[in-house]
Amino acid sequence: MTSPSSAIASLRKSYERAELNEEASHANPLDQFAHWLQEAIQGELPEPNAMTVATVGSDLRPSTRVVLIKGYDERGIVWYTNYDSRKGRELAGNPYAALQFHWVELERVVRIEGVMEKVSPAESDEYFHSRPLDSRIGAWASPQSQVIAGRSVLVANAAKHAAQFLLQPPRPPHWGGYRLRPEQWEFWQGRKSRLHDRLRYRQDQGMWLRERLAP
Ligand SMILES: Cc1cc2nc3c(=O)[nH]c(=O)nc-3n(C[C@H](O)[C@H](O)[C@H](O)COP(=O)(O)O)c2cc1C
Repeated sequence: MTSPSSAIASLRKSYERAELNEEASHANPLDQFAHWLQEAIQGELPEPNAMTVATVGSDLRPSTRVVLIKGYDERGIVWYTNYDSRKGRELAGNPYAALQFHWVELERVVRIEGVMEKVSPAESDEYFHSRPLDSRIGAWASPQSQVIAGRSVLVANAAKHAAQFLLQPPRPPHWGGYRLRPEQWEFWQGRKSRLHDRLRYRQDQGMWLRERLAP
C-alpha cells in the first residue's frame, strides 16, 4: 500500500510552458513585473493579486501571510493592513521584508526583497474610502492578530461600529498601507528537467544589474 507521505513524495510536475531569458526580459524589473502581473490577470488566474509577505520579529523569527497587492509604481509595491497586527508590529521593529507571488498556472514566481514603509495618510485615506462598506466597518471591527473570545466578538464589534459611524466610517488610525521599496527582485520561470530560469535584478551604482542564478 502506498503511504500518504510517499504519495506526496511522488507528486511531480514538469514545467514546460514558457522560458525567461536575458534577451526577452525587460531591463527594468518593474517593467518585467508589470508584464508578468498583466499576463496573470489576463490569464484569469485565481487571485493573481495575492502575494506572500514575510516579516521578521524582534526574536529574529520569520513569519509569512498572504495579502493583496493594491498598487505599484517606480517607488514600490503597495498593500494594506492593520498596523497593530503581528506583521505591523514586526515591521515597526524591523522594516526589512520580502514579498512573493506564485502564479501556479504560469509556472512563475516573483520574489521581491527590500524595505517596507508606510504610505502617506492621504494615500491610505483614498484607498480606504474606495473599499466596500462592510470592509471599512471590518477594519474597525477586527483587532487583527489578537486573541478573541469567539466569532460573536467580531459580529458585535461590526454592529457597534456601523451604528457609531452611521455607516460612514473614517479610516481607523491603526489601518493603512505599506510600500515595499525593492532592493532586489527575482523572476523564476519553471523549465523542463528542473533546469529552471532565474533572473535576479539588484541595484549596482544606481542601475539595475540583471544576473542569472542557477536553479
Ligand atoms: C487571498 C488572501 C488575501 C488576503 N489579503 C489581506 C490583505 O490585503 N491585508 C491583510 O491584512 N490581510 C489579508 N489576508 C489575511 C492575511 O493572510 C492574515 O491572515 C492577516 O493579515 C493576519 O496576519 P498577521 O497575524 O500575520 O499579521 C488575506 C488572506 C488571503 C488568503
